[in-house]
Amino acid sequence: MAWIRVLIPSLWIVAYYCATVKGWEREITSELNPGCPDILCNGTFRIAHIKAKGPNDTLHYVWDLTKKPSLLLALTTHNATVSFDWDCIGNGKECSMSFSEKPLYRFGIVFNKMWEFNDVNDTGIFDQTNKSNSYVRVLNTEHFSWNRTVFDQDSRSVSIGVKSEKYVNGNTVKNGTVKLLVKGFGYLDHSEMLPHLLHTPNTSQVDFVIDGLTTEPSFSNSRFALELVLVGSDQTASNIQIVEHQSLDDEHAPGVFTLVDVETPDSAGSAKGGYLQWRPVAYISSVRDVANSTDATIYSPQNVTNPVEDLKGTLVLSGFCSNDTGTETCLNATLVQATAVSFGLKEDGFYKKTKYMAWTFTMGYGKPPDEDFSLLVILVISIGLGLPALLIIVSGLVMLIRRVSRKKDDLFLGR
Ligand SMILES: *[C@@H]1O[C@H](CO)[C@@H](O)[C@H](O)[C@H]1NC(C)=O
Ligand SMILES: *[C@@H]1O[C@H](CO)[C@@H](O)[C@H](O)[C@H]1NC(C)=O
Ligand SMILES: *[C@@H]1O[C@H](CO)[C@@H](O)[C@H](O)[C@H]1NC(C)=O
Ligand SMILES: *[C@@H]1O[C@H](CO)[C@@H](O)[C@H](O)[C@H]1NC(C)=O
Ligand SMILES: *[C@@H]1O[C@H](CO)[C@@H](O)[C@H](O)[C@H]1NC(C)=O
Ligand SMILES: *[C@@H]1O[C@H](CO)[C@@H](O)[C@H](O)[C@H]1NC(C)=O
Ligand SMILES: *[C@@H]1O[C@H](CO)[C@@H](O)[C@H](O)[C@H]1NC(C)=O
Ligand SMILES: *[C@@H]1O[C@H](CO)[C@@H](O)[C@H](O)[C@H]1NC(C)=O
Ligand SMILES: *[C@@H]1O[C@H](CO)[C@@H](O)[C@H](O)[C@H]1NC(C)=O
Ligand SMILES: *[C@@H]1O[C@H](CO)[C@@H](O)[C@H](O)[C@H]1NC(C)=O
Ligand SMILES: *[C@@H]1O[C@H](CO)[C@@H](O)[C@H](O)[C@H]1NC(C)=O
Ligand SMILES: *[C@@H]1O[C@H](CO)[C@@H](O)[C@H](O)[C@H]1NC(C)=O
Repeated sequence: MAWIRVLIPSLWIVAYYCATVKGWEREITSELNPGCPDILCNGTFRIAHIKAKGPNDTLHYVWDLTKKPSLLLALTTHNATVSFDWDCIGNGKECSMSFSEKPLYRFGIVFNKMWEFNDVNDTGIFDQTNKSNSYVRVLNTEHFSWNRTVFDQDSRSVSIGVKSEKYVNGNTVKNGTVKLLVKGFGYLDHSEMLPHLLHTPNTSQVDFVIDGLTTEPSFSNSRFALELVLVGSDQTASNIQIVEHQSLDDEHAPGVFTLVDVETPDSAGSAKGGYLQWRPVAYISSVRDVANSTDATIYSPQNVTNPVEDLKGTLVLSGFCSNDTGTETCLNATLVQATAVSFGLKEDGFYKKTKYMAWTFTMGYGKPPDEDFSLLVILVISIGLGLPALLIIVSGLVMLIRRVSRKKDDLFLGR
């Protein structure tokens, strides 16, 4: 059995390759409310600063989940430090944070607003041009009352969760829970939770849940959508790109073969920029399962007309502006675009069916990772395709040899 002698070592090479590719890691350290005086932060959660130290540089994540939830990612040298000024934070001013040296790259996302829309025609698509009061209501994420629920850390990952049980904005009051769980990773792996997104040492993961939120009484077919504002220190003044591509297998996310990459120009061009990645699926039950899933649909990014207004009070604005001369100008040459994601699918029964919606994405630096075939799939494919192929070749050879030797015999007989 000569082919086994070839197959087994080559499988070992594949296994070795899969193991070593997981290679490098970042070491995670984190701090809640760094330097905050008791009088401001006594027991309450304001800011988390996470450092992910790699072999060549440090990724800083600054998560501010107190008003408009915002996440800032900054790539710096090992020497750079981040400092927070709590007088400025208390007043929502841009001097809230500063870097000791200019970061190599900055990327931020802000959960700017949520929309509740009345999908009377059951299309599953959110019409951003229809501003009619009978079609859409805007929920400003600042008016949720966020409370910290989770803080776990070790040297390889960190997670922080916040939850709001009330939305109050003037006359609009909503009960129900909105949850965000942010997780930073220092290593390459698939996340434990469906849709098992792939994370690298450059990635953190955000999980967003709308659970039992009161819907507008005058709307019969409520669905929700979310606006994300993306900010990048990209050099090229062009657009954020959305690339949907088919992944090779659905081993990690049953039934979902598509990956959505949202890339800044620097990520798309040179793998040196920020990106978001997800599978276009949302779960309508806390028991995540294909049977309990619906679509997450992305809409093309738009330029933001008044970026300072949208980003006011967030640490993303501080992160981009603190060391600059004036807030009015610091975003001028910066990429600021907004994109919407809506949840739901034609004939899925609307939000009211389960009153639950969960969506997960990753945010990172570099190039969005591609799903590779896992070792298991490689084994199955190489055995499934390799064995029959080998059998065909071997039996072909045997028949050929037989025929040739028979011909020889015939020749001899013919004489
Ligand atoms: C902080 O909270 C504790 C208990 O909740 C309280 O006893 C203490 O007085 C508070 N300190 C300040 C400075 O508010
Ligand atoms: C760190 O830098 C070295 C030398 O430039 C490079 O070979 C290596 O791939 C880098 N490591 C990472 C994780 O980027
Ligand atoms: C970091 O600081 C040390 C000492 O202050 C200096 O020797 C080194 O060159 C700095 N490294 C970088 C990348 O700036
Ligand atoms: C940014 O501002 C801080 C505080 O004012 C200062 O310590 C730091 O050196 C500045 N960083 C840069 C890159 O100018
Ligand atoms: C629903 O369809 C009707 C008829 O096609 C159309 O007039 C109406 O504008 C649609 N409503 C929405 C919210 O798109
Ligand atoms: C906007 O939505 C309302 C309510 O569903 C509908 O009556 C109206 O036709 C829509 N307008 C457009 C321009 O689609
Ligand atoms: C947030 O937590 C504080 C203190 O634990 C509590 O008083 C408050 O009611 C909570 N708010 C919400 C909206 O759960
Ligand atoms: C929200 O909850 C409060 C207290 O549980 C209740 O009084 C109120 O009616 C609820 N509001 C809605 C819109 O369900
Ligand atoms: C879907 O969700 C419902 C309600 O939460 C649950 O009863 C059911 O078991 C779930 N279905 C699957 C296939 O998980
Ligand atoms: C946004 O503005 C930039 C620079 O002004 C321009 O190049 C780009 O085409 C605009 N993008 C959109 C989607 O309008
Ligand atoms: C930046 O934008 C502001 C407001 O639009 C404008 O007044 C200012 O001149 C711009 N600055 C630069 C350097 O382009
Ligand atoms: C992760 O970040 C490093 C910079 O430290 C970069 O060189 C590398 O390409 C990034 N990795 C991925 C998978 O994007």
